[in-house]
Amino acid sequence: MRPNVRRLVIALWTVVFIAFIGLAVRVYLATGNSDSMTATTGAPLAPAIGGPFTLMDHTGRPVTDADFRGKWMLIYFGYTYCPDVCPTSLTTMVDALDLLGEAGTKVVPVLITVDPERDTPAQLASYVAAFGPRVVGLTGTAEQIAAAAKAYRVYYAKAKPKAGDGEVYLMDHSSIVYLVDPQGKFHQHFASHQIDADEMARRLRGIL
Ligand code: NI
Repeated sequence: MRPNVRRLVIALWTVVFIAFIGLAVRVYLATGNSDSMTATTGAPLAPAIGGPFTLMDHTGRPVTDADFRGKWMLIYFGYTYCPDVCPTSLTTMVDALDLLGEAGTKVVPVLITVDPERDTPAQLASYVAAFGPRVVGLTGTAEQIAAAAKAYRVYYAKAKPKAGDGEVYLMDHSSIVYLVDPQGKFHQHFASHQIDADEMARRLRGIL
């Protein structure tokens, strides 16, 4: 073969080869797409957060999640004997709602205790009062608290008391603020230690 004919043959084979690869890729992608369509029409993969709860508020009144319909909720799981994380988170929540002014009145900040043993309604009442009139404290039986925490995927456990501290113990617990919409559906969460009141207010303003 003369060099220019050989070059032409090589060029033709290159075109055929590229066309073949293109076809193979298209077939592969079409197969992949049909697979992913099967996956998206199946059961939702995202785990549900939140749900119904039956508890008691800081005035001793039995309440359920349904009592908060029509209001947004900022739910925080903590406990009144917490030395720092819980008070800081509750302060952030209340300050953010103060910053929102009128819009802030659409939101009820809620503390659900993870320490029902010590957090009686009376104990919760004096604690939440320290954060102003907005905060609702919720307690319940150990089983009711466990069910609510499970629904929100909150971890909590009694920490071992230090020797000599007797009955004094701390609770280990997740520190997350959950925003629940007026229909009672989980909307989003905030990692309370990574956000200050200004930032929480800014993000809430875009939602409420
Ligand atoms: Ni705490």
